[in-house]
Amino acid sequence: MRALQLSPEQVHRGSLILVNRDYDYKEPDFSLSGDFGPEALSVLCGHTAKTPVLLKRRAAVLFCGLMDQIGGWDGIVPVSGYRTLAEQTEIWNDSLVRHGKAFTSTYVALPGHSEHQTGLAIDLALKQDSIDFLCPDFPDFGICRAFAAQAPQYGFIRRYPSKKEGITGIGHEPWHFRYVGTPHGAIMEQEGLTLEEYIFFLRDFPHGKHPYLFTEGERKIAVSWLPARKDEITWLFVSDRLPYSVSGDNVDGFIITEWRDGYAS
Ligand code: DAL
Ligand code: ZN
Repeated sequence: MRALQLSPEQVHRGSLILVNRDYDYKEPDFSLSGDFGPEALSVLCGHTAKTPVLLKRRAAVLFCGLMDQIGGWDGIVPVSGYRTLAEQTEIWNDSLVRHGKAFTSTYVALPGHSEHQTGLAIDLALKQDSIDFLCPDFPDFGICRAFAAQAPQYGFIRRYPSKKEGITGIGHEPWHFRYVGTPHGAIMEQEGLTLEEYIFFLRDFPHGKHPYLFTEGERKIAVSWLPARKDEITWLFVSDRLPYSVSGDNVDGFIITEWRDGYAS
């Protein structure tokens, strides 16, 4: 077994952090580390817009892999990825003036509460002469449909579905995709859960007791939740032989993903 120490700060880092009206994004203190590691932003490959669209490194790699696989670059335009707090504030204020409060609070997250600040969210548009920046057209047919169908396998989810507006706090946004990593995209798709629902669903699967088991080909993947100790280091014990990943939930715990082989239970 390998013993890992998780700091309270790590609750707010990772591909599964929940950022919404209730949980704001805690901007990382980059002065604490020389290499930004998984927090580093990357320009989307093959993307030639005047203003580059950025995503966190792993999300960018998976996004480009998905676009390559479906041949998406000629038909889909990345419109908006990472935004600073200042940019989100400008978008919010501009939308208030142009469209009013009701529209703005439906389609623009409050500054400090936008997934775009995490570098894990991207807005996409069907390639057309005119593209609406706030509500781009991303129809449920053709290349856009192909993207949406493959997205969960690459760790991306449609974050703001219809009929779940009361849960997400945001209107139906077929154009907004959020990287949550694998196998979480596929699990959320299979279970029909938004990120809000998934984060709280996982509390029923405590780490070291009874994880949620997901089968992918020959492999079993165990997903579990570990509560964070308040203001203290949380210890995590994982196999030193098998792959795992850890993400904070941005609430009060960690989501542990462990890839098991045919021998481990
Ligand atoms: N349009 C999404 C909700 C945002 O502004 O983050
Ligand atoms: Zn968006």
